[in-house]
Amino acid sequence: MTVLHRRAMLALLGAGAAAGCATVALDGQADAQTGSPLPTGNTEAPNPRLVGAGQGLIPMNAANLTPMFTSVERAFDEYERQLRRDVSFLARNEFVATKVEGARQKAAKMLGVADPKDIAFVRNTSEGNSTVINGMTLEAGDEILIWSENHATNNISWRYRSETTPISLRDIYLPEGELSASDIADIFARAVTENTRVLTISHISNISGRRMPIKEIVAAVRAKKQDVHVHIDGAQSWGSVKVNLTDMDCDSYAASAHKYLLGPRGAGVLYVRKTAVPKIRPVTLGYNLYFTYPENGLSQTAERFECHGQRDVGTFAAIGDAVDAHDAFGGPGAVESAIDDIVAYAKTELRTKNIDIRSPEGGHGVIVMDLGDPLLAMAGFLVLHQASVAGAFIDGATSGPGQPRPVYLRLSPHIYNSREHIDRAVSAIEVAKAMPLDQARALVKRYLG
Ligand SMILES: Cc1ncc(COP(=O)(O)O)c(C=O)c1O
Repeated sequence: MTVLHRRAMLALLGAGAAAGCATVALDGQADAQTGSPLPTGNTEAPNPRLVGAGQGLIPMNAANLTPMFTSVERAFDEYERQLRRDVSFLARNEFVATKVEGARQKAAKMLGVADPKDIAFVRNTSEGNSTVINGMTLEAGDEILIWSENHATNNISWRYRSETTPISLRDIYLPEGELSASDIADIFARAVTENTRVLTISHISNISGRRMPIKEIVAAVRAKKQDVHVHIDGAQSWGSVKVNLTDMDCDSYAASAHKYLLGPRGAGVLYVRKTAVPKIRPVTLGYNLYFTYPENGLSQTAERFECHGQRDVGTFAAIGDAVDAHDAFGGPGAVESAIDDIVAYAKTELRTKNIDIRSPEGGHGVIVMDLGDPLLAMAGFLVLHQASVAGAFIDGATSGPGQPRPVYLRLSPHIYNSREHIDRAVSAIEVAKAMPLDQARALVKRYLG
């Protein structure tokens, strides 16, 4: 996506407003400098809990990237300073033994994992997914079941793998309409054949907000074939809902700290249960493996996936501070209900403006909207930006093989969002929805290329 040049965009939207597009002024006042009827800056007082929120655009894109908790940012800066000051082996060993291992224990506890060694720190969900996808020992004819609403890193990456190993990939689509947990579990179980080796699904879809009943799916799939490896992409669930991996009974789970956890950027987890570890060969062999391999073989825990060579251990350490900050907020359950509350408010307000919400009932976090035309979804993203709200436009879920992917506008609020933020976003979306298509086209062409 092209970088958005704010000043130029203001000018363009100001001109558009004169031509009649922005008939709904968000604050009713033309900006003195730009003449735009849309508000030009975020006038909110900074939110003391978060760095970033309230200081630039109002973040409403948690499904992609979030600001950090203020406490995490402070800790992160301090770790960085310490590591810069003393680069000796001894200092780093001490740092890893205390801070990084402490963070691992906290992350394991938050995710319901008894042994912290079952968790490797990675850079993000993409890396965790790819570690499983590219490291899994597979044979010709093995079959991989992929939920069609997965993120590209857990979908296209399998296609990439299939270019070098002749595995067969099967996309599983869910029909439209409300589905119970057992309906969904049955759909996946029915797809299992004697060749199925892996089932790979998002816990919560970034393109629809659908929350998958993982425990039920795992039970139904295992009842059909015991040894299917179930990999969960938790990018949208870690920090946003209560997650208990032991209870979920999956074999592996990957997630990023820079989304709903409100943690450090470039940090994530890859959980692999011990029985699944031998099936996955590490794709990176860094220096820490050099001490044990080949004489002593690979570690039999998820440690084998953390041999990255030199890496930013301060970033990993700050995961522990993010977990502490969640606990201080009231724990994952409190965060989950705060997100549900603000999302419910947003959905109600959007419905009063006749905005077509495409996220299923019972979903979590992500609200996707169909503005009636892909151009309007993209223009909506730009109008939101000008209204000082950071949202997103995305390719939505397809209804079946070969069907085109619709383009939707997406909001993903978090605990730092207020009802006023939502009101501002809803007004901007109304403006976008009413925009003539030729105007939307010009806007999109100019700023998104
Ligand atoms: C479900 C899902 N998986 C994976 C990713 C990739 O996350 P990251 O870029 O942190 O690796 C995303 C990003 O939005 C996502 O929503």
